[in-house]
Amino acid sequence: MVIIIIITARTGEAISTGTFNMWFGDVESLVTFLKAIQKDTFVLIATFDDGATKITAEARELIAELGSSAINSLAFRDNWVFAGGKGITGKSPFEQHAKNNKSNNKYDNWPELLELKGCLPQKLD
Ligand SMILES: *[C@@H]1O[C@H](CO)[C@@H](O)[C@H](O)[C@H]1NC(C)=O
Repeated sequence: MVIIIIITARTGEAISTGTFNMWFGDVESLVTFLKAIQKDTFVLIATFDDGATKITAEARELIAELGSSAINSLAFRDNWVFAGGKGITGKSPFEQHAKNNKSNNKYDNWPELLELKGCLPQKLD
């Protein structure tokens, strides 16, 4: 599952949310959601269980454009948390990625919990 929350860069108010099942679901609904993201917003993304099986190169590219590095190597049942934004220059520092690898996993078939802390810059103009 890929869980996305869009917040305004001005007030931090949540303006839309989406959950996309990348195991049973359809990647087109994720692509449509990503394409509709407006400027001057922050995009918060987390995965639960599997966020990668059905993901496509197009969806990865749209997420990379929000500042993600890890999206390019996101695989089955990896844990991933990210905060970025539309039109960001460079890569977001707000990202953590734990690979699902049974020999290193904290919980047998699942990697450990990830936490992301920090302050996003408020947009004032
Ligand atoms: C999983 O971790 C082990 C131990 O660090 C490593 O040898 C192996 O290459 C890893 N497997 C994958 C698929 O990354």
